[in-house]
Amino acid sequence: MEVIVAENIGFCFGVKKAIDAVYEQVQTGGNIYTYGAITHNEEVVKDLEKKGVRVIESSKELAQIKEGTVIIRAHGVSKDIYEQIRSQNLKCVDATCPFVKRIHDIVEKESATGRQIIVVGNAGHPEVEGTMGWCRTPAIVIESLEEAREFSYQGDKELFLVAQTTYNYNKFQDIVEIFEQKGYNVSVVNTICNATEVRQTEARSIAAKVDMMIVIGGNHSSNTRKLYEICMQECENTYFIQTLDDLHLELPESVRLVGITAGASTPNNIIEEVQNYVRINF
Ligand code: F3S
Repeated sequence: MEVIVAENIGFCFGVKKAIDAVYEQVQTGGNIYTYGAITHNEEVVKDLEKKGVRVIESSKELAQIKEGTVIIRAHGVSKDIYEQIRSQNLKCVDATCPFVKRIHDIVEKESATGRQIIVVGNAGHPEVEGTMGWCRTPAIVIESLEEAREFSYQGDKELFLVAQTTYNYNKFQDIVEIFEQKGYNVSVVNTICNATEVRQTEARSIAAKVDMMIVIGGNHSSNTRKLYEICMQECENTYFIQTLDDLHLELPESVRLVGITAGASTPNNIIEEVQNYVRINF
């Protein structure tokens, strides 16, 4: 089978940096905690677990820790969590991705000047929660085009739109347009990270020319889900798999060209396994 593998796949620079930070801390010894899993990739999390790294899921769990190092992952956290770590006299290693940190700085500054922050992204996603935790006044989350269409604002503040770093770029543009058409006084900063934009554009163009598309990534990875969504629009034969084990396909003869892309947390060895399998067995 002929296969096109996207070039912009595997761990993005932010996730890579965060994972390296954890391995570096492991060398120094002591109790190491990450605030949330460092990546959605289960194999990496398991390997770190073997090395004694523990994952904290909430500020309540953080409150139980008496000593050690807390590593903040690439998604970032709200301002409160930094304060809690400091007040508990724990060491903090901040591996927040610089693209996420930039959003924190923007929303903190803009909300302080009295603007109403709107985060275009998935409500409940840790990055979005963290971003909201840097706003001086409560932020609003818009997840979809429908929510943007239904949105109505009665206040008198200027609206200020930012996006989750992994949001679908075209969808973000459409949402901005809806806000402008509604006649709101709105400022926009496109905070979708470059790695995401490049990955999505490449995935779209590959999906448009292949007969079948495979998207590899963790079940909980929102950037992989978005890639799947994008590829599905271009190629209805799109499959979302976590590892090679999920790939049980009977291919119709008409399939001659297969495309492969992967989310930001997918390690290279899984991508390679899948592409070799498809090349040889299909
Ligand atoms: Fe950072 Fe973009 Fe990765 S925001 S964590 S480089 S997907």
